[in-house]
Formats: sequence, structure tokens, C-alpha cells
Amino acid sequence: MDKFLITGGVKLQGEVRISGAKNAALPLLAAMILPDSPITLTNVPDLKDVGTLIKLIEGLGVTVERQGDRVVADASTLNNQFAPYELVKTMRASILVLGPLLARYGQAQVSLPGGCAIGSRPVDQHLKALEALGAEIEVEAGYVHAKVDGRLKGGEVVFDMVTVGGTENILLAAVLAEGVTTIRNAAREPEISDLINLLIKMGAKIEGIDTDTLVVTGVESLHGCEYAVVADRIETGSYLAAAAITGGRVKTTHTDPNLLESVLEKFEEMGAEVTRGDDWIELDMLGKRPKAVSFRTLPHPEFPTDMQAQIMAVNAIGRGFATISETIFENRFMHVPELSRMGANIQVDGNDAVVTGVETLSAAPVMATDLRASFSLVLAALAADGETLIDRIYHIDRGYENIEAKLQSLGANIKRVSS
Ligand code: UD1
Repeated sequence: MDKFLITGGVKLQGEVRISGAKNAALPLLAAMILPDSPITLTNVPDLKDVGTLIKLIEGLGVTVERQGDRVVADASTLNNQFAPYELVKTMRASILVLGPLLARYGQAQVSLPGGCAIGSRPVDQHLKALEALGAEIEVEAGYVHAKVDGRLKGGEVVFDMVTVGGTENILLAAVLAEGVTTIRNAAREPEISDLINLLIKMGAKIEGIDTDTLVVTGVESLHGCEYAVVADRIETGSYLAAAAITGGRVKTTHTDPNLLESVLEKFEEMGAEVTRGDDWIELDMLGKRPKAVSFRTLPHPEFPTDMQAQIMAVNAIGRGFATISETIFENRFMHVPELSRMGANIQVDGNDAVVTGVETLSAAPVMATDLRASFSLVLAALAADGETLIDRIYHIDRGYENIEAKLQSLGANIKRVSS
């Protein structure tokens, strides 16, 4: 199993190119099931989760060609509607094939998902929303069996909580339903807007982009097109955090400052100088120790849960103390015991944590537990005294493209070791 060996203490300096967003690429790949002519995605990141979703749609019979960051798919060869446990269990986003399969082929059997171990993460909202469009759904022996007589019918969907995946699944179904679907309490994450933009380019009719009420007027068919995946705001924030925790200066390019305003505000509050251009962001920590910053995770445009672990790591060496509330997922503090092994001072009470900054962290063997938590350990290691060995980095490979090459280009002392 691969591990990272990181020697801390280098102030990161330089430029890093941000990849396409994992969380946008996955629903966009699921959308490739919908059109009746070939479709091309560009800026697709080379990640394990992307490979899993491509395997999943190939298993449905879709013809997929992948060259570099370009994926071309032709769904006219689709010949089954079965998403097996072996593929779905590794990645929760696999459930996103349910909506488009049902909308285009009238039936689907999709295994219940797995993915990161951050809370129970049910899919009840996805299923309830599809039922509101006329789907008949049964859950049996770990599989969702869904079918509909004829086409799905437009309806009223009201989510009980803001769900990113739920909003995507229902959009992917409603675009081919008969009549109008209104989605209330919809998620407003940039990855949702990216999906909407792709669907519109394919011929879908959707109003309300960037708001929590989406109105979809179903069409009979969709056509192929070419579309570039939006930049990864979480990868962007993660590399800026690497500059902050090491007291360095990093410019992220091929990104979009409008996607992560709430995170950039926190970096400024830390005392960093943040400069923005049309498609770049630079963070200069000016060689200083950051001030610890408090925040609460909430749906977009508020502070994203996917940046919680990384900013907690920066707080661990911050000046003063900060409180962090995690309101999106239960059990998303699994990085805390690992950061504590490196000398961080963090007290957890339920979904709240108090971080009291220490001057230095010290290297220790640690274990990655989920995707973003893993990056928080990389950050801590970059700032720590000595050599840190991070185990189970397969979690990081699910979501960070070329992580060691990117960090090395900024001067980090990181290498992948196999054992
Ligand atoms: C997506 C992101 C993930 C991010 C999360 C929140 C992808 C591939 N993943 O995950 O990185 O952390 O949004 O921004 O885009 N819930 C239910 N029932 C449901 C659906 C959700 O109870 O049917 C709950 C979840 O357990 C969680 C909350 O709603 O507590 C939000 O989940 P959701 O927004 O659906 O997250 P994902 O789409 O899985």
C-alpha cells in the first residue's frame, strides 16, 4: 500500500495549475448517458473516482474513449441498466447514474453506495425526489430497483435538507421527463451550476441557475456537445492552505476566485495577502504564522465542509484559538486524533471543535481516513519538524490529481513510497 513520506519545514513558493473539479466531473460523466449523439468533456481530472465512474458507464454499454483530459462518450451502445456493488461501493457518486438511466431507459438497478466513511450518508432524498416524478422504487438486498411506465412525469420536489447529489440526480432525470419539474431547497454549489450549464448545452430547459429553486421543462431528447469541466475550488483552497501553513507564497492558476469567496475571506482573516485575477488566486503568508480562524460549515455559498479539515490543520499552528462547527456531516472529525498525534491541541465536543494553535507540530506516523482529511495530514506534515509517514493515501488519490508532482513543484519534500 502506498504511503507519503514528507519532510516538513519548507515555505512553499511558486505556481500550481488547478485541475478540473472531481465533484463536477462525476455528475457530468453521469450526464453522458443522456444524449442520443456523442458528447465530449474536456478538463476532466485524472483521478481514481473519475476512472470508477467511467468504468461504471462502460459497464452499462456506453462506448467511452479517454485521451488525456478529454473524454468522449457514445451512449447509443448502452445495453443494460445495472450498476453493480463492486463499482458502486467505492464511490457514493455512483448513485448519480440512477436518475439518467430511469429518465432515458425507464428502469435501473443500482447498488446502494459506499464512499468516504463520513457519517451515514443515506440516499433517501434521491429516491423520494425520483418517486415524485412517478418512479416506482424498491430497495432490496442492497440494490435500488427503479422503474417507470413510459416517461417520468414532471412534479414538485422539495428536499428536506440541501443535498448536492440529490439535486444532481433529480436534474439528470427531470431534463427528459414529460412536463415541468420544480426543485425547491436545491443545492447551489458551483458543481450544480456546471451540470446545469452542460445540460442546457445539450438542449435541456432549466431556469433558476445559482438559486435554490430550479424549474426544469422536460424535453424529448438531448444531443451531444463539447464542454469543459469547471475548476476544482477545493483543490484550489487546499494548495492555498499549503502556502498558509508553511508561511509561503503560492499562485493557483486555471481556477476561479468566484467559486470560493468564503474560504478566501478566512485566509485574509488569518493575515494572508490574497490577490485575485480572472482565473488565478495568489496567497502570500508573508512568512508569518497565521491567526487561528473560527468558522461553521454550511451549504454554498457559505464555508464548504470539504475545506474544514484543511483549515483546521492551518489553525493547529495558528496564533490564538478558533472554534469550528461541522453542520453538514456527522463524524467528519476523523483527522483530529491524527493531527493530535502530531502535537495539535484540539478538543472535540460532538460536531464542534476548539483548536488552540501550537508553535510547531512534530512528525509522527499517521493514517489517512477520508479524502479531505488526508490533505489535512499532508498540510500538517509540510509544517511539522521532521519526517512524517502518511499511510492509506489511496484516499488522496481519489480526489487530488498529481498531488506529489504539484507539491514538489512548489518546493515540498514529499515522496511516494510503496510497502
Ligand atoms: C457532495 C460532495 C462532497 C461534499 C458534499 C457536501 C460530490 C461527489 N461529493 O456529497 O464532497 O462534502 O456534497 O457539500 O459531489 N443526505 C441525506 N439523505 C440524502 C442525501 C443526503 O440525509 O438522500 C445528507 C447527508 O448524509 C449529509 C447531507 O445530507 O449529511 C449533505 O449531503 P449531500 O449534499 O447529498 O452530499 P453528497 O452529494 O454525497
